Amino acid sequence: MTFDALAIRKDFPIFQRTIRDGKRLVYLDSGATSQKPTVVIDAESDFYRLHNAAVHRGAHQLAEEATDIYEGARETVASFISASVDEVVFTKSATESLNLIAYAMGNALAGNRFHLTAGDGIVVTEMEHHANLIPWQQLAARTGASLSWFEVTPEGRLDLSNLDAVITEKTKVVALTHQSNVLGTINPLAAIVKRAHEVGAVVVLDACQSVPHMKVDVKELNIDFLAFSGHKAVGPTGIGVFWGKAELLAELPPFLTGGSMIETVTMTGATWAPAPKKFEAGVPNMAQAAGLGAALKYLSAIGIENIHSHELALTSYLLGKLSEVDGLSIVGPKDLHDRGGSISFTFGDIHPHDLGQFLDSQGIAVRTGHHCAWPLNRKMGVVATTRASLYLYNTEEDCDALIAGILDAQKYFGR
Ligand SMILES: Cc1ncc(COP(=O)(O)O)c(C=O)c1O
Repeated sequence: MTFDALAIRKDFPIFQRTIRDGKRLVYLDSGATSQKPTVVIDAESDFYRLHNAAVHRGAHQLAEEATDIYEGARETVASFISASVDEVVFTKSATESLNLIAYAMGNALAGNRFHLTAGDGIVVTEMEHHANLIPWQQLAARTGASLSWFEVTPEGRLDLSNLDAVITEKTKVVALTHQSNVLGTINPLAAIVKRAHEVGAVVVLDACQSVPHMKVDVKELNIDFLAFSGHKAVGPTGIGVFWGKAELLAELPPFLTGGSMIETVTMTGATWAPAPKKFEAGVPNMAQAAGLGAALKYLSAIGIENIHSHELALTSYLLGKLSEVDGLSIVGPKDLHDRGGSISFTFGDIHPHDLGQFLDSQGIAVRTGHHCAWPLNRKMGVVATTRASLYLYNTEEDCDALIAGILDAQKYFGR
């Protein structure tokens, strides 16, 4: 199959508009959030237009339809990540999913396998997005557990040379990103998962930057928990996924409590419904789940492997072009080995914010700043970077536009 990004672009209404006085939109910020195809926009608005009712509750046709759509979206998510349907929990975002597990572990009482005390260890990495760092810092502070981490090498890879010293018999949880939102690095999970399981720790994978871009099979990876956001996978905002192995979800205490997540309630106590309901208190983000279901079906129809190959080809093309620009330094791996399409760079002494503003004036949308990974920026010796992130609707023409914009900026800023 030949991958036709230009045909795909026609599915996304936003590409019909122009930017900054009639310029073509060159959208290179999908790592922050992706654009949405019509099928997703329609699925969300059709939910409100035709089926709106509170799921799992009403005894009427609309409630039945809404429930079917919501639970249908859960089945779509489960099949997308090769999970069982009852292992898929809807949240509002990856940030909420990661807070869910960290808070739920904090709620575990003595005797529960997730109960943490001083003497237990939590392991993260230096390349985490703040969403997969701060909840663990907070959990460590609340429980007295220690927080340790894998360092990042100057090339932007995890330093696993001291694997057995970082993940020890005390480690209870290892939380790490699958693919760095800054460096594009794809982490080698097998050795980490093996060591974590050897010492009885669970592995929490932040898959925000992998699930939208490559096949993620939770069974094959043999991880224990996973989080991602719908809005980075051509889905709506306000919907995220938290996945966990069934036997672990059964033992994990709830995070939020209230309606819809209980089995029985008295004036003094309650018991919990089984997962996934135990983790979905209140009326959930139903229209957004409908949109996410449509999004993942859309990606599946194109083929996530085809999307991945397209992105790899573009990443290779853009890395090659960027490396020819005098004064530009790529922050992260410079070849395709275990890396995806988030490419961060610095450009001489032109501040990323100035470069970003200049590119914007040309219709080119990139992200600038620390990308919610402050410790990683420090480790890589940069205050901020400019990041171009690629997705299924990008083309070589987009990459060429970025390069031309960078060279124009060089002239504009007199370098
Ligand atoms: C690697 C990674 N983890 C977590 C998040 C947080 O996602 P959200 O803001 O959708 O909750 C992001 C968002 O940029 C991310 O890139």
